[in-house]
Amino acid sequence: MTPRPLRSRNWFGRRDLDGFAHRSWLKTEGFSDHVFDGRPVIGIANSWSELTNCNAHLRQVADAVKRGVWSAGGFPLEFPTISLGEVLMKPTTMLFRNLMAMDVEECIRAYPLDAVVLLSGCDKTTPAMLMGAASADVPAIMVTGGPMLSGKWRTEELGSGTDLWRLWAERRADRLTDEELCEAESCMSRSSGHCMVMGTASTMASMAEALGMTLSGNAAIPASDSRRMALAELSGRRAVEMALAGGPKPSEVLTTQAFDNAIRADMAIGGSTNAVIHLVAIAGRAGIDLPLRRFDELSRTTPLLVNVRPSGKYLMEDFFYAGGLPVVLKELLPVLHGEALTVTGKSLADSVAAARCWNEDVIRPLTMPIAAEGGTVILTGNLCPGGAVLKQSAASAHLMVHRGRAVVFEDHQDLHRRIDDPDLPVDETSVLVVKQVGPRGAPGMPEWGAAPIPSKLLRRGVKDMVRISDARMSGTSYGTVVLHVSPESAVGGPLAFVRNGDEIELDVPKRTLALRIGDDELVRRRAAWTPRPPHFTRGYGRLFLDHVLQANEGCDFDFLRGRTPVRFEDTAGPSHA
Ligand code: FES
Repeated sequence: MTPRPLRSRNWFGRRDLDGFAHRSWLKTEGFSDHVFDGRPVIGIANSWSELTNCNAHLRQVADAVKRGVWSAGGFPLEFPTISLGEVLMKPTTMLFRNLMAMDVEECIRAYPLDAVVLLSGCDKTTPAMLMGAASADVPAIMVTGGPMLSGKWRTEELGSGTDLWRLWAERRADRLTDEELCEAESCMSRSSGHCMVMGTASTMASMAEALGMTLSGNAAIPASDSRRMALAELSGRRAVEMALAGGPKPSEVLTTQAFDNAIRADMAIGGSTNAVIHLVAIAGRAGIDLPLRRFDELSRTTPLLVNVRPSGKYLMEDFFYAGGLPVVLKELLPVLHGEALTVTGKSLADSVAAARCWNEDVIRPLTMPIAAEGGTVILTGNLCPGGAVLKQSAASAHLMVHRGRAVVFEDHQDLHRRIDDPDLPVDETSVLVVKQVGPRGAPGMPEWGAAPIPSKLLRRGVKDMVRISDARMSGTSYGTVVLHVSPESAVGGPLAFVRNGDEIELDVPKRTLALRIGDDELVRRRAAWTPRPPHFTRGYGRLFLDHVLQANEGCDFDFLRGRTPVRFEDTAGPSHA
């Protein structure tokens, strides 16, 4: 059989001036002639950064990938991408997800790569890399960094984020001292890795696995477990095989069936609401229209199986010891597209065939689910014509059908200025409404949706209230929080017209969210409304405001949807000065 031509030969296999330059300049790194003998070049796209604590160990993961690439006869070249650190980056990493996706896509396109290994970890780094790889369509396999070890404080297990919110609420209610809080701070984050609840990072790692873009079992292995490095080495070896075979490419893996599988997996694990936005955006890159109603259709027929915080009791380390995502996927096979191709070259069903559950309280069988329906539901109604999202698995049962009067905050600053005002006219039946926190309004749609409970109510023992906004919420958060209201208030969505005292009705079983005012009144308020001036007039921020799509469309840029696959013949041509 004639071997497939490798794209990298357009750089290194040439006997002309350009070939001389490409080989000669790379020799500055100390490579011998052997690396140019026709072996595939494997790019390792690394989102390592000391500013992204969740990804700070990815240089070690890259070393393990390189070991695999060399041992399989490839030539690994690691390159940096921008990195998005959820905690330190302001105003929000979501403002930069599309920028990172562009970075990844254009690096894959511009460099002599036959396949690429994507190293991600913190929340947005995983979808951004999948979006970029889907658009470039060069064979790609992902390795995520893995979750931190479980937090341990006194006799308690602490989950990142989820327990931070809980402990902070305890402090605001004066049930915890500053000293105790400080002690817990050190005990929560005690190893490398990303947040170890089923927050956005763990969810998106699970989505990458359910989509078929990682080796089986990738999502849950703790960052500091030696098996994470072994999996990275195997992924490097697999990347070489993919380069030599010319696939599978993302276009062969990221199919309509794969997205159905990922949505069902998301529902079964009680995944982050952010998965909705990211899956829509990744699908858009693959040329697949993924309407919000598909999430709700699949949510209604997918049981919640995974008992991990914030929807359940355990942490990601327990999930790994119980068997991890392969067990969930095997359990779900009756409702999945088991024939979907994965980067292993095998079907999803074959990839999980050997999975076994070791703890049925952590991963329930289909016959004993935690809840009959999936974790996330999609709401519609006159307050959210484009849809809204609620995580019912992390919400309060007594608020699933609720009618209450709006207490309105005009923006995030207004919320923080007044939420603890003793004179705020609010009680536990009120509905907290926060405006101007969506994709354009905030800007960047930060995780500001889980508005704090007013401290005067906290002190009375109130733990949850209905909250509504066009923001997102951390995947580690919990509560009866309606998110992603679209269109957002900043572009004149109905949320912009809600006033203090308006009656709002939430009915989760019926999937509705309604503002109880007359149509005439809504028209009057719309006519009197004026948008705020834009946050940016230049630079990347201007690009963002001019092109970002609404939440129900995945918040990608309008001009980035779809793909322009890299073609072998596109890559030749002079590049030297
Ligand atoms: Fe990175 Fe939570 S802060 S995953």
